[in-house]
This record gives sequence, C-alpha cells and structure tokens, in this order.
Amino acid sequence: MPYSPAVSAPNHTIQAIFDRKSCRSFNPSHPLSKETIDVLAECAKASPSACNYQNINVFVLNGIDKTTEFGLSVEPYVLEEKPFMRGIAASKDKMGLKSFIFYDAPVAFVMTGNARDESKIRTLSADSGHCSQSIMIGAKSLGYDSICVGCMSGPKASEAALKYLKEHCPDFPWEDKGKQKLLLSVGVGIPKIEKGKPFKKDNIYHIK
Ligand SMILES: Cc1cc2nc3c(=O)[nH]c(=O)nc-3n(C[C@H](O)[C@H](O)[C@H](O)COP(=O)(O)O)c2cc1C
Repeated sequence: MPYSPAVSAPNHTIQAIFDRKSCRSFNPSHPLSKETIDVLAECAKASPSACNYQNINVFVLNGIDKTTEFGLSVEPYVLEEKPFMRGIAASKDKMGLKSFIFYDAPVAFVMTGNARDESKIRTLSADSGHCSQSIMIGAKSLGYDSICVGCMSGPKASEAALKYLKEHCPDFPWEDKGKQKLLLSVGVGIPKIEKGKPFKKDNIYHIK
C-alpha cells in the first residue's frame, strides 16, 4: 500500500516533505545545472549542527561518470560488508544500472566529518542526517528525486570512499581538517522509473 498522508499539505515545503521518496533508478542523461547543485549544497550548509560544531564536509560528484566511478570503487567492499545489498547488486544488469551505490544519479553529495576530536564524533551522524534531509527536500521542491546512501558505513567501504575523495579532491585541506569519517551520501536526479512512496507506519502518539 503506498504512502498517503493523514493530512493535506498546507504549503509547498510540506508537500515536498510528503512527496520525497527514495529513487533507485535515475535517468543518467538528465544532468543538474551548476546553479541547482550549488543550491542543494547550500541546503546542506544551512542545516542544523549539534553544539554548532559544523564539522561536516560535503563533496560534490557532478556527472554520471564521477558518480559511477566513485560507486564502482566502493561496491566490492559494500557487498562484502553489507550482504543485504547483494540482491540489488544482482539485479544491476536487469535494471540497466552502472552502479548500485547512487543508482546512476547524475549528482551525488558525499559527506564526511572531521573526526580528529573524539568528543565531537558522536554529533556527526545526526548532523549528516540533517544535511541529507535538507538536500533531499530541497531537491524534491525543485522537481528532483533522491536517495540517501548509508551502505558505505563498513570500515572497508568507508576507506575506499575516502581514498577516492583524497585522490580526486586535492583542494580539500586534508592535513588541516585531520582524520575524516565517512558519513551519509545523497544521490539526486530525475527518476528513470517512477515508483510510489512506501507505506509509513502509524507512529504518532499524543500525550494526554
Ligand atoms: C540513514 C539512511 C541510510 C540509507 N541507506 C541506503 C542505502 O545505502 N541504499 C539504499 O538503497 N537506500 C538507503 N536508504 C533509503 C531507505 O531504504 C529508505 O529511506 C526507506 O526504504 C524508506 O523509503 P522512502 O525513503 O521512499 O520513504 C537509507 C536511508 C537512510 C535514512
């Protein structure tokens, strides 16, 4: 049964929240403009940050060649560390997918956190969740679908992802920012196959 909100959306922002859904097959030949990518990156930047540490870094992969190259460099480790992803990997050919990490999204935002300071590490995953949701709602409000990607959280996949970022982003101050922890990523684009939003459990309880 697809999701159907219990209330109607009173404005476009809330409609975008209701309409956001995970996309697992993007149309790779539908790129995003530089302006749109900048707007979505800014959505991440505008997100709340625990204790206002602002320890999240956002790496932008622009273009199917880059999202695929990145995806293929981590896929073997994701399969080793997250066996539940094997089903999606097995249907890659049938779905005409190049990579199951970003599902051929033309743009991906990969987040890392500054992990040198142990006491601040615990705030990173919440912060990257907020950044991800901001990007995804921003994308939906502009007519794009998205996918939040957390399957690279295993040690080997994380290492492979960070290695890719180090090799391809020399502008990042790797020395100054110190050790990086791979966090969530978000792929954005136009869906190749339109699917409904999955059913959401009734989980709202009013205190009396
Ligand atoms: C933290 C987090 C990590 C996720 N990681 C992945 C992932 O690696 N691959 C994937 O296909 N979907 C991933 N998802 C998407 C969820 O599977 C999806 O949100 C869930 O099935 C609900 O569907 P909806 O987003 O369409 O409402 C992730 C979602 C979250 C919140």
